Parts: sequence; structure tokens; C-alpha cells
Amino acid sequence: MKLTLLVGTMTGTAQLVAQELELVWDNPGDDGPVQVETLLMDDLDSSVFDREGIFLIVTSTYGQGDVPDNAKAFYEDLKAKRPDLSRVRYGVFGLGDRTYAETFNFGGKRFDDLLGELGAQRIGERVQHDASSGVLPEETAEEWGQGWLALAKEAVAVST
Ligand SMILES: Cc1cc2nc3c(=O)[nH]c(=O)nc-3n(C[C@H](O)[C@H](O)[C@H](O)COP(=O)(O)O)c2cc1C
Repeated sequence: MKLTLLVGTMTGTAQLVAQELELVWDNPGDDGPVQVETLLMDDLDSSVFDREGIFLIVTSTYGQGDVPDNAKAFYEDLKAKRPDLSRVRYGVFGLGDRTYAETFNFGGKRFDDLLGELGAQRIGERVQHDASSGVLPEETAEEWGQGWLALAKEAVAVST
């Protein structure tokens, strides 16, 4: 199974989460290995969704509840081109801080809402990491990663 992680980040925390998930998913399970690739969103456009496999959006939140700078062009491209993503399945690991109560985790939410509008189907619940909780996002990722991978494998098995 192929998994592509798409990372939106300002100061690298989301990238640490992606690295942790790559480690967690490195062990091939009984049902075969997982091929994981992490791409920073910087140079992406909507054509990345032509790839095979499942996607995981890992993104933080900045400004007034905006996606990080390196995710802006990608997000705007999706919004402008509105490709049909009905064959795309994805998860969302959002990073934010509850101190920003009005816009908590809006980066992940924005991607989730947009992908949903374009027909893509989410696997599992959207994670909303809270930097003010004192729990490291890598720890949350480690705990969450195995369960989500199982759901992703199920989704692939059902559709093949
Ligand atoms: C200037 C600034 C603005 C932020 N705005 C928000 C926000 O609106 N909502 C939110 O949930 N988190 C907000 N955050 C918190 C970050 O999303 C959070 O610290 C995240 O873990 C950073 O991840 P990154 O290093 O991958 O960018 C903001 C942080 C900074 C420094």
C-alpha cells in the first residue's frame, strides 16, 4: 500500500510529525509493507492527487486561521481548479493551539472541508493537536498512527 504525506508547516513541527509517522509505519505488517513518502507542500499543485494510494494531510495553522505559507499555493490551486477527487481517500493530522480559540486547528479544517467538497473521502477522524496541551505532537502521532493505518488498509481492501 502507498501512503503519501503532504506537509504544511511554518517552523517544522508538522514535519516532525511526518517523520514520526514514517517510523511508526516502517514495520511491515502481516498484510504487506507500506510504502510511505513525505512531500512538503511547497511545490505541489492539485496533480499530486493523481498518485496512487492514500493521502495524509499534516498541517499547522497560522495567521487568522490560515494554512501555513508553504501550503498556500497548493490550497489555492485546489480551490481554483476544483478537480474531481472522488477517487481520493485521505486523513488529516492538524496542528494548532487552543490559545487561538476562534481559529483552533483551522489549517487542517480548511483542507478537510475543501477535499470533502471536491468529493474525496476522509478515513478516520481529523486529529486536532493542541500545542498548549503539553503533549508533543509526535507523541500524539505515535499513538494515533497504528490505528489510522489499520483504517487505511481496511479502506484499500474494501475497494480492491
Ligand atoms: C503567529 C502564529 C499564529 C498561529 N495561529 C494559529 C491559529 O490561528 N490557530 C491555531 O490553532 N494555531 C495557531 N498557531 C499555532 C501553530 O499552528 C502550532 O504551534 C503548530 O504546532 C506549529 O506547527 P509548525 O511548526 O509545523 O508550523 C499559530 C502560531 C503562531 C506562531
